[in-house]
This record gives sequence, C-alpha cells and structure tokens, in this order.
Amino acid sequence: MYRIKSQRIVLAAVAAVAGAMLCSCSSVYNRMTSDQAKGRLEINVKPFGETSEGQQVRLYTLRNANGLIADVMTYGAIVVTLKTPDRNGKMGDIVLGYDNLQDYIRNSPYFGAIVGRYGNRIGQGKFTLDGVEYKLAVNNGENHLHGGIKGFDKVVWSDEPVWRADAVGVKLSYLSKDGEEGYPGNLNATVIYLLTNNNELRIEYEATTDKATPVNLTHHGYFNLTGGQRDILDHVLALNADKFTPVDKGLIPTGELLPVAGTPMDFTRSTAIGARIGNDFEQLKFGGGYDHNWVLNKGGRSMIAAARVYEPTTGRVMEIRTTEPGIQFYSGNFLDGTITGKGGTVYKHRWGLCLETQHYPDSPNKPNFPSTILRPGQNYETTTIYRFSAK
Ligand code: GLA
Repeated sequence: MYRIKSQRIVLAAVAAVAGAMLCSCSSVYNRMTSDQAKGRLEINVKPFGETSEGQQVRLYTLRNANGLIADVMTYGAIVVTLKTPDRNGKMGDIVLGYDNLQDYIRNSPYFGAIVGRYGNRIGQGKFTLDGVEYKLAVNNGENHLHGGIKGFDKVVWSDEPVWRADAVGVKLSYLSKDGEEGYPGNLNATVIYLLTNNNELRIEYEATTDKATPVNLTHHGYFNLTGGQRDILDHVLALNADKFTPVDKGLIPTGELLPVAGTPMDFTRSTAIGARIGNDFEQLKFGGGYDHNWVLNKGGRSMIAAARVYEPTTGRVMEIRTTEPGIQFYSGNFLDGTITGKGGTVYKHRWGLCLETQHYPDSPNKPNFPSTILRPGQNYETTTIYRFSAK
C-alpha cells in the first residue's frame, strides 16, 4: 500500500502552526483548526486484483477529517465501502457489495457502480437521432438497461487522486469508443468522487463527445443505513417529487407524468418504504415493488434537494441533492438471497435501496422528456451529493 500526501496541505499546516506562534488572534486560531482538519484528510491507494484481460485494478481509500471512509475502485468506478457513524458514533458500512474484485466481475447487480453510457432503460434498445436509427445491445428482456452488456460498470477507469480544500477524492476517466454497445460517438467520460469534511459523498460527472449521443450517467449504490443488519423496509423515505413517470410491464415509461397524490408512490411526506409496498397498485406489481423514476420538483435546472432517508434504529440520515431532473428509487426487489456479499452477509429480498439521480428512462424515445442528447462542443456536467448524518 502506498500513501499519497498532499504537499500543499502539509505546507498549509506548517504555516498555520508558525502563524500561531507569532499571533494568538482568533483568525489564526480558526485557520489552524481548519488546517489541522485538512491534515487528517487522507488518500490511500492499493492494488485490488486484475481483470481476466490482465488489467490492473486499484482501490482508493478516502478518509475525511471526521473519520468517514469511502473505498472506490477503478473497475466500474465502484464505491466498495462507505463507512459513516450512527447516532452513537459507531461506524458502519452502509453500502452493499463484495469483499473482492472477482465477485464483482462474476455477478453484480450494479453494486455501487457508475452506470452508463445511459443509466436505466431504453425501450426495444433503439432510438432515432438526427434521422438515423441506432440499435443498442439488448440485455433486459427486449430492452437496453444501464449501458448494455458491457456498460461503464464493467470497465476499468483510469484514475488520479484529487485534493480539494475540504475534500479528498479520485478522478476516474473512461473513453467509450464510437459504436460501443451501439452508441454513436467517442465519449470522454469523467467522474470525480469526493469525500468532503461536510460528510458528503459528492459525485461530479462530465462528458464530451465527437458525435451526438444520448448520455445519462448515474451512481448505482445500494444503501442500507442499518449497516447491513436487516432489509430496508423500515427505512423512512422522503422524495421531493409531486409526479412520477408510470411504466409498462417492461418498466419502460409510458411518457406520462402522473401525480403521486393518493398513490403508494407519494413520498412527499416521510414514509416507511414498507408501509405501502404490498399495496394492490398496478405500478408496484410491474416493478415487483418500487422501481420507478420520480420527477423532481424544479429539477434539472440547479442543485435541489431530491431525497432524504432516515433509519430509525441507528439514527442514520442520508440526504441527496442533485442537478438532475429525476431520481430512480429501486427497493432492491431483485435481491433474493442468492448473493452472499461483504463479510458473508446474505443479501435477502430488499436488503438495499438505490436512489439513482438521472434523466428519465427512455428519454431518447420520449420527445416530451428533458433531452439527454449531448452534441459535439457541448459539456455534459451534472453533480449529485449524498450527505450523511445521524439523529
Ligand atoms: C435498476 C433497475 C432495476 C434493476 C436494477 C439492477 O435500478 O431499474 O430494475 O435492473 O437496476 O438489478
């Protein structure tokens, strides 16, 4: 294992100590405490195995000044571990996943990954853009899901450490070639994961292309705020969304935006996930539970509050803000006890929940949805922030 230390930060701490020796005024004291906090930011990098093609994979361990830890690996840009405190300060790993690379490669339902080039479904795996029909890899019934057979969750990204004033991170880059999984254009994608001293996991997405293409990048973390003790049905969820996009049996949006009011899709007030999941509501039957996109109120223009999850036994809270217009809430309905994950934990039905900030599914075929088309010369830029606390 080797450790990367920021010279800038070490120098700042030395300067602050020297300043404090000369002057005891409060501004120096404030600077010192913040510099000392920065001194505890850490990035460690270690090898994490290799793919069957012999590509080396690295694991970054990010640690913030409060002791929160995020492990991110270069295969799939996957968040492997996320340790946050409960209301008693006890740290727990709140994401599902595996202990080693080979298990991720063998069989992962997108645990902790970045999904792309298009997160979520594209109906029939095809779309027409500027008069040309494109056919994508079909990997979910008759539809295209999460970028296809070998999406961004199954490639090795190039990496570099990132130091910011109050955060540590890793910048991951991937060139998705023209024609990959059927998509047009060479797409240069960059994802920066930052663990901030404000106890946030901040994800900054960027992309450019040399041909017009749909792009919809998101993070597919499976959260369990108990630290993996039980299923997520008692987690209490609030979504800042008055509408959702109803789907057909194949989970492709019909194109309508329907009000959530009076349905089990209404999370405008904090509600336990399990409270209505068994209701006789057609949309829940199609998803086997929640597996839908919500239309965020005033979403897609600037950073807005999207979701809040509270777990009553540990007191953990996760708040999500995003620049995206939608959020897919998936209640882990396909988990069925056949996967044994980290530390030998069996991931039973609904053992994790995903809150995937995104554009709406099947947007390339839905002219009334916000556009997901990126053109040459444009910059794709979105940001999503997950903030962790306990009460
Ligand atoms: C997404 C989809 C779900 C499911 C999971 C992975 O969230 O919406 O239907 O495919 O990914 O299992």
